[in-house]
Parts: sequence; C-alpha cells; structure tokens
Amino acid sequence: MNNIVVLISGGGSNMRALVQASTRENWAQRHRARISLVLSNRADAAGLTWAQQQGLDTAVVDHRSYAQHANPREAFEAEMRQHIDRHAPVLVLLAGFMRILTPGFVDHYAGRMLNIHPSLLPAFPGLHTHQRAIEAGCRFAGATVHEVTAELDHGPILAQAVVPVLPEDDAEALAARVLSQEHRIYPQAVADRLRRLSP
Ligand code: GRF
Repeated sequence: MNNIVVLISGGGSNMRALVQASTRENWAQRHRARISLVLSNRADAAGLTWAQQQGLDTAVVDHRSYAQHANPREAFEAEMRQHIDRHAPVLVLLAGFMRILTPGFVDHYAGRMLNIHPSLLPAFPGLHTHQRAIEAGCRFAGATVHEVTAELDHGPILAQAVVPVLPEDDAEALAARVLSQEHRIYPQAVADRLRRLSP
C-alpha cells in the first residue's frame, strides 16, 4: 500500500474530503494508496483534531518554534521532512497549508507534491483570491489543483472547477461556493494521479 501525506494549517475541510474519498469502498484497493499522515504546522488546527478522531496518524511541526534558529525556515522544513519521509509517500498533498516552501523542500518532492488553490490559476496566485476576483469584476471564479513547483501557486495545472460570481457575492459567499468545488476536484485529481502512477 502506498502512503499519502496531507499537510494542513487550519480547518482542513479539503483534508476531510480527501480522507473521506480515500476511505470509500474499494478506493484503497483500486489505487493501492491510503492517507497515512496528516501533518500540521499549527497545534490548534481544527482539522488535526478531526484526523485524530478518525484514528489517523498526525504530527505537528510548529514553524514558530524555529524563530530563534539561524535558518528558521530550513530548520522547520528539515523537521517536516523527517516526519514526511518516514512514510515514503507517493504523494504529498498541500490542503490549506499556509507556509511558503523553499525551493529545496519543493525539489525534494518534485512531481509528487500537489496543491489546491482557490482561484482559476494563473489568475490570482497568493492570498485574498475571492476578494480580488470580486474587485476585478470577474464573472467566474474557481479552484485549481496543480503540481507544486518552486514558484508560489504555479506549476502544471491538473484540474480546475469554475463557479459563477454573483452580483451580491462578498468574499465569504464566493469562498463557500469555491470550497464546495475544491472538495470535489481535489480527490478526483489525486485519484487520477494515482491511476497514472500504477495503472
Ligand atoms: C482552501 O480554500 C484552500 O484552497 C486554500 O485554503 C483553504 C483551506 O481550507 N489554500 P481548508 O483548510 O481545506 O478547509
């Protein structure tokens, strides 16, 4: 059975969608993979509690504990790598993981790290995507699953979903509409990728 590691920072609704998809009947056999670790950079991430309640292996590597280190980011990532590499994962899935990763870390997982981003990339990389889409007068918004490369929110696009932007939308309303699509396309994109890894 191949291992998948999911990285979160907060609510973890995408992680929940991935876990729920992966525990459906036949999924593990069909894809020969299971989510073996949920790793968070915040001990108070709500998604972490949920993952623990499901009996999943979880770990916390708090980026703030490395603030005094000579190379805080490298030290933080080295600790994450130790946790992740223990599972020798075929995929590392960023699911609302809110830390920018160094090129060294990204390279280490080249071709096996995916991310979900709440915009129709290449439009609106970075933060506040929904507010920016509304302010730009977009009629459509959406979400993108992509391979992670050293450039933030770039990398080959694997899946996208489109939703309308309604005249009365605020960022919150649009985010909710986009998020429900994220929960659909991320598990699908992961299944597609696993099918390609072992057809
Ligand atoms: C999602 O919109 C994701 O695309 C973005 O942050 C949000 C995280 O939501 N990167 P959740 O933690 O998966 O609920």
